[in-house]
Amino acid sequence: MTVVSIVNTKGGVGKTTVAVNIGGFCADAGLRVLLIDLDYQATLTQYYPLVSVAPMGVYEFITNNEQNPEHYVSQTCFERLDVVYADERCRGLDSLLRDADDGRLRLHNLLPAVTAHYDLIVLDTQGARNATLATAMLASDLVLSPVMPEMLAALELKSGTVLALSGIASYQRLGIPIAPLRVLFNRVHPISSNAVVVQDAVRNSIMEHAGVEALDSCIPASEAFQKASAKSIPVHRAETRQPNNRRTPSALEIIRSLVLELFPRQDWQELFKRVTGKKPFARVQEGNR
Ligand SMILES: Nc1ncnc2c1ncn2[C@@H]1O[C@H](COP(=O)(O)OP(=O)(O)OP(=O)(O)O)[C@@H](O)[C@H]1O
Ligand SMILES: [Mg+2]
Repeated sequence: MTVVSIVNTKGGVGKTTVAVNIGGFCADAGLRVLLIDLDYQATLTQYYPLVSVAPMGVYEFITNNEQNPEHYVSQTCFERLDVVYADERCRGLDSLLRDADDGRLRLHNLLPAVTAHYDLIVLDTQGARNATLATAMLASDLVLSPVMPEMLAALELKSGTVLALSGIASYQRLGIPIAPLRVLFNRVHPISSNAVVVQDAVRNSIMEHAGVEALDSCIPASEAFQKASAKSIPVHRAETRQPNNRRTPSALEIIRSLVLELFPRQDWQELFKRVTGKKPFARVQEGNR
C-alpha cells in the first residue's frame, strides 16, 4: 500500500483537484483506492457521489483511534474508489492532533489497519501549516505539492510547505522515514514564457533541499477540470481526446503521464497504460446486478 499526501500551505492551488483525479485514474486502472479528506471544507468529500455512507468520518476515525474500516469507509459511485469523509466536526481535529501526545502519529499508526484493503491511499489536506499537515506528511510514502507557476507561489512553497517538511525531520529518530516531496506545477498556461521562467526558478531554488524535487509532468490550465467537477467524474473520463484547437494533450494523457511518473512500479505502469477512460467504471450495486 502506498500513501500519498497532497499538500501546499497555500490555498486554492489545486490540491483537491489533484487528489480526486489521481485517485479516480488509479481506481479506473484497477487499483483499490481510498481518498481521505482531512480538510473541514470537505471539498473532496463532495466531489464524487457516495452510494454508501459510513456512520463515521475522518474526525471519529482519528479521534477514536477507530480500527474497523467498515465504520469509517464510505463508497463512491465508482468501483474501487472509497472515501473517508470530512464534515464540520473536523474543525476541531487540528487542536486534537496538536495537543494529544501521539497526535501527529495518529494516521501513521492507524493506516496499517487498511493495508489489506487498498493499494493506494490519497490524503487531501487544508492549505495551512498546522498539526494536520504534519500528521498527513508523517503518514505518507510520498508528499505531492501542487504549485502554480507564479513567483510568489514559488516563494511560499519554500517558506511554507518545504519548512513544514523540515519541521518533522526529528521524527526520523523514532524510525519514521520522512517522505520525499515532489512539486507539481498546476494550472500552467500552455503558451506563457513566464511560466517556463518561474518553473526554472523554482527548480533551482529547491535543489538545495534534500528530498525535494520538481516533477517533469505538469498540469496545464484547462476547462476540462471544471467540466469534470460539474459532472462529478474524474477528468480523464471527461476528456479522452485532445481538442482540435488546443496545444496541450487530453486530460486522459495528462493524468496518465503524472501517475506514470509518480508510481514507477512495473505492475502499476502496465495498468496505467491500459486506461481508456471509456470502459464501464460505475459500481454495480447489490440488487442491480
Ligand atoms: N489545472 C487546472 N486547470 C483549471 N482549473 C483548475 C486546475 N486545477 C485546479 N483548478 C480549479 O481551481 C480551483 C481550486 O482548486 P482546488 O479546490 O483543487 O484547490 P485546493 O488547493 O484544494 O483549494 P483549498 O486550499 O481551498 O482546499 C477549482 O475550481 C478547480 O477546478
Ligand atoms: Mg482543497
